[in-house]
Amino acid sequence: MTEGLIERYRARLPVADDACIITLGEGDTPLIRLENIPEANDRNIELFVKYEGLNPTGSFKDRGMTMAITRAVNEGSQAVLCASTGNTSASAAAYAARAGIACYVLIPDGKIAMGKLAQAMIHGAVVIQVQGNFDDGMRLVKQIAAEAPITLVNSVNPYRLQGQKTAAFEIVDELGAPPDFHCLPVGNAGNISAYWTGYSEYAGFPTRACNHCDGQCPWLAEPVADKLPRMLGYQASGAAPFLRGKMVEQPETVASAIRIGRPQSWELAWAASRESEGWFDEFSDEEILKTQAMLADNEGIFCEPASAVSVAGALNDIESGKIPGGSTVVCTLTGHGLKDPDIAMRQSTAPVQKVPAELDAVKRVILG
Ligand code: F0G
Repeated sequence: MTEGLIERYRARLPVADDACIITLGEGDTPLIRLENIPEANDRNIELFVKYEGLNPTGSFKDRGMTMAITRAVNEGSQAVLCASTGNTSASAAAYAARAGIACYVLIPDGKIAMGKLAQAMIHGAVVIQVQGNFDDGMRLVKQIAAEAPITLVNSVNPYRLQGQKTAAFEIVDELGAPPDFHCLPVGNAGNISAYWTGYSEYAGFPTRACNHCDGQCPWLAEPVADKLPRMLGYQASGAAPFLRGKMVEQPETVASAIRIGRPQSWELAWAASRESEGWFDEFSDEEILKTQAMLADNEGIFCEPASAVSVAGALNDIESGKIPGGSTVVCTLTGHGLKDPDIAMRQSTAPVQKVPAELDAVKRVILG
């Protein structure tokens, strides 16, 4: 039976001994070595993807949600609330259903991928389409949570980041050491902050994402790694506040998951970048979609557009030499490609041919 990440990493998570755990068997996702990328092979670079699309609801959000919903339920909460570009709402809806509590999600009107909306609906969440963007939704849910007895499960909820840090633990456990570089898409900026927390804690250092024991977490006494990766955060050019150095009012990108102009974990993500001596960069929609298609075509890995920006960034920095030859690099593929079938269909060049149900007709297509 899959035990889920809370059981696996319980000694390094703020979970009470007698807590009732809400899990769907999340975590323990594959770390896949990319084999058919000449840019990496030619420079002796070991390039891995952490395929988070294989979590129960198809994205990395499940890591944070098992923690946030477990905490909410054990504190007696009857309802949870989030704003979302789609994946958080899918995950919150599923874990709330599992726990038997209510779930309210605010999504930007017409701007979330079909698969994600279907998930929130089938799991019975109350779906509220806001005539605005994610940042508007975020502003509204914070106001509601301040007034009503309802638990906010966006990544401003510190237990979300605690759950998400376990992805870094898994990578170190599997590779035997942290990578030299870790590449991530950045939207609301929670995940890059969570990974930095995970890597730092494994090396025995607290980060400022720790809110529960003033940097005195008991698990810091038992470090398992003796180095830290550099954290590389990549954004879509139309929604790149970290590159602009300020909030973006009207974010726009085909990668709807990261169509965010006002990241909530602004300070934490800057700290991760600075402390790790990493950097941010940006990519056009065209480059993002090209990378998504390349991964599907060359490696058999289907991720959603937002996820592909991590690999677009890694390849760009490998080619420029910013990531030197001989490095070990991990890119997080945050969500499954099936979340957004419309985009995949639209950009796919694979011919779909209609034929009569006759042998000769099929033979003509296959044998020419
Ligand atoms: N990739 C995917 C597939 C996402 O869904 C998100 C965020 C990110 C990357 C960026 O992660 O926000 O921690 O920097 N999605 C949120 C949501 C905002 O509502 O599903 P981040």
